Amino acid sequence: MIYLCSMTNIAIFASGAGSNARKIIEYFANHTSIRVALVLSNNRSAGVLDIAKTHQIPIAICNKVTLQKEEEIMPLLHQFHIDFIALAGFMVLIPAYLTVAFQNRIINIHPALLPKYGGKGMYGMHVHEAVFQQQEKESGISIHFVNAKYDDGDIIFQEKINIESCENATEIASKVLACEHANYAKVIEKVVIEFREKESE
Ligand code: GAR
Repeated sequence: MIYLCSMTNIAIFASGAGSNARKIIEYFANHTSIRVALVLSNNRSAGVLDIAKTHQIPIAICNKVTLQKEEEIMPLLHQFHIDFIALAGFMVLIPAYLTVAFQNRIINIHPALLPKYGGKGMYGMHVHEAVFQQQEKESGISIHFVNAKYDDGDIIFQEKINIESCENATEIASKVLACEHANYAKVIEKVVIEFREKESE
């Protein structure tokens, strides 16, 4: 049987510099069946918005209040035919209506080995500072499905990083970020392909 595969559209939700978003956008730029169709941010001055503009990807701005409004966000996601959401440094809790509508189709990356160093308040440099304070020998990255709690959904992928030589949290951050860049887009691709294969069974 010939299986005609249409495009899977990803929305990236990001709040900050957007280095992971950039890697994802670049990875899928010439992909035959997956594209980044929307970038949504809660921060008008987020670097990720410039990256999206450069790549001519539509952008949307929300805030904590509008993100809660199912009647505003769902039509937006439908308008761009969004199938998956990838969080890339998105600092707002995902509302329950989204985790229900996109069950196992929202993916997050966390800069530590969950369940350690996760939860409310554990993001960005706070994570690396806590890891450094605890004199951990290793840190790493976790890519997981998103549920209605911070950093709590099923783990899809983890990679450990030796940080014994790191002399401060900034050095840990830089090693972890490089590992995120090397893995996040590939893991998203794998999840999307596996999802599509299951759907077509
Ligand atoms: C990344 O390290 C990501 O893992 C982290 O924010 C950073 C965003 O960097 N996310 C969290 O801490 C979520 N709890 P970026 O904007 O350069 O991609």
